Amino acid sequence: MTVIAIDGPAASGKGTLARKLAQHLNFAYLDTGALYRAVGLCVARMGGDENSEADALKAAEKLREMDLNDPELKAESTGELASKVAAFPSVRACLLNYQLNFAKNPPENKAGAILDGRDIGTVVCPDADIKLFITADVKTRAKRRFLEEFGAKGCDQQFQTILEDLERRDKRDLNRISSPLKKAENAHLLDTTNSDIETVFEEALRLISDGMISV
Ligand code: CDP
Repeated sequence: MTVIAIDGPAASGKGTLARKLAQHLNFAYLDTGALYRAVGLCVARMGGDENSEADALKAAEKLREMDLNDPELKAESTGELASKVAAFPSVRACLLNYQLNFAKNPPENKAGAILDGRDIGTVVCPDADIKLFITADVKTRAKRRFLEEFGAKGCDQQFQTILEDLERRDKRDLNRISSPLKKAENAHLLDTTNSDIETVFEEALRLISDGMISV
């Protein structure tokens, strides 16, 4: 079983890269951010308080696989909710088994699993065969998210709001006590500020095939 761990800050391009690698390698892919997003969304829909650990844990315990397909998961407002509930240790502990099981027994008997998130290389899969840490300058990341959400129709004010949202989320994810966003010591760092997805994909594939030879 091959496990690839991909971590990095919001809108760094890790999801696009992970999806592309999974398709190319025929591996299973788990977007672990979707788990935290689904918990955040569930708290909001239950009329709970996303700053309450008890409410967030209740939502995490109720999580079902079908909740991971909700179109509202993608909204930046859901990302904000996710980063609040993700700071609670009991919520993280509750979601850990699902992630571990996915990495050990990927669906459809695939030969490998790719998980992306914040703590995959450090906490969830510290023994992953390959670890990648994807980053980019925050303005570049905000521009990507802005284009994803608004296309050519967006205005300056919307860009500023996204930039501030990402900065706030980065700060929360980096500074929390429980599983903060952190590059694992043995992760390969890929800065995508000036690279398009094809270039990053080729570089990641090269690192993966080099890594496979040495493991
Ligand atoms: O897609 P984007 O990079 O904006 O975010 P995401 O990967 O969907 O994650 C949403 C939020 O969930 C993050 O801001 C983190 O606070 C949290 N998260 C986490 O704590 N641990 C993970 N393994 C994945 C996400």
